[in-house]
Amino acid sequence: MESFFNLTDVIPPMSREESLIYFAKLFGNKNPIVVELGSGNGHFLAEYAVLNPDMNFIGTEILLGRARKFYSKVEKRSIKNLVVFRGDMRRFVWDFLYREMVREFIILFPDPWPKKKHHKHRLLTRKFIQMLFICLVHGGKVSLATDYEEYRDFIIEEFTYVKGFKSSSNGKYSEYAENYPVSLYENKLRNEGKRLFFMQYMKT
Ligand SMILES: C[S@@+](CC[C@H](N)C(=O)[O-])C[C@H]1O[C@@H](n2cnc3c(N)ncnc32)[C@H](O)[C@@H]1O
Repeated sequence: MESFFNLTDVIPPMSREESLIYFAKLFGNKNPIVVELGSGNGHFLAEYAVLNPDMNFIGTEILLGRARKFYSKVEKRSIKNLVVFRGDMRRFVWDFLYREMVREFIILFPDPWPKKKHHKHRLLTRKFIQMLFICLVHGGKVSLATDYEEYRDFIIEEFTYVKGFKSSSNGKYSEYAENYPVSLYENKLRNEGKRLFFMQYMKT
């Protein structure tokens, strides 16, 4: 099974039907799909994929060096239910995914773009959240983490604009994620003594 793709080298599927066939062929089955956006070197997703062999995992990472480290984990551990797409995660969502295809989106420590004039670069705007909503199956979820309080509040507010999402912590957050492996950034930030905020939203 091929497990590493440069987004610019792949012609995206042109419809939902094509996309379902594309991923079924890629993984050799029709198991539920989990997508991580901004995977870094794949420390988290490799672990999560091994723990959940009955699901298919897609990691996305823009930096070539990190994407390669990620892929070497997949190869070394012969992980069959995990593929890496190197490129812009937004492009992956817009070009490869269609309505009701994804069981879970995972976004751990996305760049917070702290300066006000840079807020426009933030991933988790209401428009992008709407896009995630469309791509999720019913009962599917978005799992998120940040260490940046102002981005946390921004994310919580942006989710209120998208109808149909239910917060699993009543529009708040928790400081630990249960049942998830630890990501590299989580480890690093905890070692620095930072407070971390985890949020989860379910498509109702
Ligand atoms: C702060 S790191 C967190 C990495 C990982 N999620 C973790 O928790 O260890 C954010 C990651 O998102 C990646 N990233 C930023 N913008 C991206 C984009 N447009 N498309 C794909 N990855 C992106 C960065 O290169 C970086 O590896």
